[in-house]
Amino acid sequence: MLWLLLLPLLQSAAAETGIDAWLRYARVPNYESLQDAVPGRIVALNSSSASPVYTASQELVMGFAGILGKEVEVIDSASNMRPYGSDIDSGLLVVGTVAQFAEASVDVGLEDELVNDGYHIRISGSDAHIIGANARGALHGAFNYLNALAQGNVPSESYTSNPDAPIRWVNHWDNLQDGGTHGSVERGYGGESIFYWNGSVREDLSRVPQYARLLASVGINAAIVNNVNANESMVEPRIVKGLQRIADLMRPYGVQIGMALNFATPELLGVLDTFDPLNRSVIDFWQERTDMIYQHVPDLAGFLIKASSEGQPGPLTYNRTLADGANLFAKAVRPYGGITMFRAFVYDYTTLNQTGNWKDDRANAAVEFFDGLDGSFDDNVVIQTQDYLNSDSVLVQPIDFQVREPVSPLFARLQNTASAVELQITQEYLGQQDHVFYFADLWKSILDFDLRVDGEESLVKDIVAGRRFNQPLGGYAAVSGIGLNQTWLGSHLAMSNLYLYGQMAWNPSVSSAGVIEDWTRLTFGFNQDVIDTVREISLESWPTYENYTGNLGIQTLTDILNAHYGPNPASQDGNPWGQWTRADADSIGMDRTIDNGTGFAGQYPPEVAQIYDNIETTPDDLLLWFHHVPYTYELNSGETVIQHFYNAHYAGSTNAQTFPTRWQALQGKMDEQQWSETLHKFVYQAGHSIVWRDAINDFYYNLSGIPDKLGRVGHHPYRVEAESMELDGYELYPVTPWNTASNKTCIVTSSNSTSGTASTNLDVESGTYDVAVNYFDQAIGRAQWTLYIDGTAIGEWSGDSDITLSHAPVLYIDGQTAIRITFKDVDIPSRATLKIVGVPDGQEPAPVDYVSIFPPGVVD
Ligand code: GCU
Repeated sequence: MLWLLLLPLLQSAAAETGIDAWLRYARVPNYESLQDAVPGRIVALNSSSASPVYTASQELVMGFAGILGKEVEVIDSASNMRPYGSDIDSGLLVVGTVAQFAEASVDVGLEDELVNDGYHIRISGSDAHIIGANARGALHGAFNYLNALAQGNVPSESYTSNPDAPIRWVNHWDNLQDGGTHGSVERGYGGESIFYWNGSVREDLSRVPQYARLLASVGINAAIVNNVNANESMVEPRIVKGLQRIADLMRPYGVQIGMALNFATPELLGVLDTFDPLNRSVIDFWQERTDMIYQHVPDLAGFLIKASSEGQPGPLTYNRTLADGANLFAKAVRPYGGITMFRAFVYDYTTLNQTGNWKDDRANAAVEFFDGLDGSFDDNVVIQTQDYLNSDSVLVQPIDFQVREPVSPLFARLQNTASAVELQITQEYLGQQDHVFYFADLWKSILDFDLRVDGEESLVKDIVAGRRFNQPLGGYAAVSGIGLNQTWLGSHLAMSNLYLYGQMAWNPSVSSAGVIEDWTRLTFGFNQDVIDTVREISLESWPTYENYTGNLGIQTLTDILNAHYGPNPASQDGNPWGQWTRADADSIGMDRTIDNGTGFAGQYPPEVAQIYDNIETTPDDLLLWFHHVPYTYELNSGETVIQHFYNAHYAGSTNAQTFPTRWQALQGKMDEQQWSETLHKFVYQAGHSIVWRDAINDFYYNLSGIPDKLGRVGHHPYRVEAESMELDGYELYPVTPWNTASNKTCIVTSSNSTSGTASTNLDVESGTYDVAVNYFDQAIGRAQWTLYIDGTAIGEWSGDSDITLSHAPVLYIDGQTAIRITFKDVDIPSRATLKIVGVPDGQEPAPVDYVSIFPPGVVD
C-alpha cells in the first residue's frame, strides 16, 4: 500500500478551524445531567453593553446553550435576589461587582478577600453568584465558571480566585507600516496583523473582539497593540483615532490597550530637532501627545518603550540615563494612572567585539546598563501615591528567548523598582509554530528559580508579583504573535501557550500537565487518548526540541543572521549579535566565570554566583552557557561533551519521529480538520528534526574531528545522494551552510523553465520500504516533483510549504528550507530504477538533496 505521509489538508463538513480556540462551548457528554444543576435565569447587575459584567451575562447565555443545550434568560433587575441567610432558593445566577451587589442591597462581605480583577464564586442552594472585585473580575469569574462547565463539571462549592500579579499583558509586535509589507507581524507566524494594514488601523477589526474574548477568558488585562520597534506615526491623530476603535472593541472584555512608542518620535515626525528626554520641548511634546491619546482612549494602560537597543533610539544618544528615558513617559501618563513599561532588553550590538575579546559579553549588558539606576525610576511616587506607577519590564533571559538560558540576574537587582517578566508565546527561536513547543516547564524553570537575594528565598515569581521586594506593581508580559490565520498562531497546538500564559500569569503555580489537559478537553474534546497524547507530546516537546537544536546551554543553534529558524551553528560567532559559542577545533562554550571569563556569573547574588562560577556545580544543561571546555570534557552524566551532542541530537530527532505515529492513532477521536492540520505539522517536524540533527552533528564532527563512538554521524547507509544520480537537466549545487545538505551538495534544475531528471539503479533487495525524499522548498515558487519507481509514479508534490506551514518565508537553499516527504510501505523490486523529475517554478529550481530508502523500524 502506498501512503503519502505529507498529507494534503483534509476538509470536513463540520470542521473546526480553530478560531474559537478553547472557547468552543461544545456540548459536553454529560450535558443532560448538568442541565438541572445550574441556575435557570441570569441576572446581570450592569446592563450597559460596554461593561464586562454585561459581556459576562452574554457569555453565560452562550455557554449554557452550547455546553448544556440549555436556554436561559437574562433578567436585568436584581429584585428577585434573595438576601443572604434566607432559605429561599431562587435559581438565579447573578453576576456583578462587589459594589453592584451592595447597590442591590446584598452585602457580600468580601472586602478583605478580593484583590483587583479577582472574583468569588458563591454557590448556595440552586443559586450561584459570580462576584468580581471589579467588572473585569466578574467577567473572569464567569469565564472560570464556564471553563468548569465546558469540562463537564458544575462548581458545587464556593471559591475565591485572585491574580498573583497586577500586570498580565500581552505585547504585539504588529507593524503599523513596514517597508511595503502590509500588515506584517514581527516574529509572527499566524498571518497578517489583526490591527493594521498599509500604514493605518484596519477598517475591518472584526477579529479584535474575538481576540479580546480569548484574552479575557484567561485573565489577561491589557494588550500593547504595536511593535516595540515602533513607528513614529503611532502618535498621529489619525492613528490614535484608529486605536480608539480598537480600545472600544476590547473594553467590553476588560482588556485595556497600550502602545509602544518610538523614542525619537518628536524628531522623526519633523516636529522638533531633538528627542533629548530632558529637553523642555521634548517633555512638552510627549505630554501633549499623551493628553491627546488619553482623550481618545481614557483607560489606556500605558506605554511600552524599547530604547537604546538594537539600533533603536533612546536616552543614551544624549548621554542621559535609562531612568531619564523611562521617567519621561512615566510622568506623561502619571495624571491618568497609566504605566510605563521600560524594557530591560538593552544592548548595543555596535560595541560588541566581533573578533573575540574573551571578556566581552552581550549577556552582561542589561545589568551594566541599569547599574546604579535602581531607585531612580520615580520610586518615591510609587510609594507615596500608588496611583501612578512606573514599571520596568525585564526580559526573562539574558540573551534572547533561547531554548535554555539562566534567569536574568537583573531580577535580583531591581529591588526598588517594580519588575515584570517578559516571555514569548510566539516561537521565534523555538520552531516558529511548525515544531511543537509547550512552554509550561520552561516558564516554570524561570519563575520557580530562587535567586537567593541576601541569602533569602527569592523566587522570580515572588519578585515579579511584588511580594519579595514589596512593590505594588509588577507581573507578566508576553509577546503574543497572533494574526489573521484561523488558528490565530498558525498552529492549533501552539494556542495551548496563549491559554497557558494567562493561567500562569494568574497563578504561576498551576501544574504543567493540568493546564494542558484542561486546554485539550476544551479545544479537542473529551477523548482520553487525545488528552493523554496531547499531554505527553506537549510535556516532551521542550526536551525533544532542545536535544536536536542545541543542548548543554549552547542555546538554539539556529540561523541568527536570517529567519531564526533552521540550523546554522556557524552563524552564532564572528558577528556583533553576541549569541556566541566560541567553538574552535578543541573546545566550546562561553566562559562567563568571574575571574577568567566575562564575569557574568558574578552578576548573581553570591549563593547563585558560586554555583555557576564553579564548573563542578554548574548543571550540565547550562554548562556551555557558563564555561568553555574541551569537547572531551566529561559531564556529570559521565559522557563527553561531544558524545553528548551526538547522542542528544539522535535522541531528540528519534523522539520527534514518534509524534506523527502517535498522532495518527487519534484519527476519528477528534475533529478531522484539527487532526489533519496537526498531523501535517508533526510529519514536517519529524523530517526537519533530521535536518537539524545532521546539520549540528556534522558541523561539530567536522570542527572537532572526534567521531561518534556509535558510528552514526556521517554514516547514512540508506541514503542515495541526489548528486550521485544520473542527471539530465539537473546540476550540482553546493549548499551554504554546507552542513545543511547531506554531503554538502544538492541538485537544482539547470534552467528555470525546463524540468530536470535524476535517476539511479537502486541497490536494495526486493521488499517493502519507506522512501523519504529530502528536498528544499523556498518561498519563491511552486516547483513540482514526481517520484517514480520502475517508471511508476509513486508520489507527486509541490513546493507549497510556505502556505501549508507557518515559519518565516526563506528564499535560500539551506537548513531553513530543507524539508522531507516520506512515502510509506513502497514495494521495491530488486535492481529497480528510481527517478525524480523536478519542474522548476520561477526562481525555485526544484532542489533535491537525497533519497533515503529504509526498511520498517528504521528512520534516517
Ligand atoms: C529579538 C527579535 C527581534 C525583536 C527583539 C526585541 O531580537 O529577533 O525581532 O525586536 O528581540 O525583543 O526587541
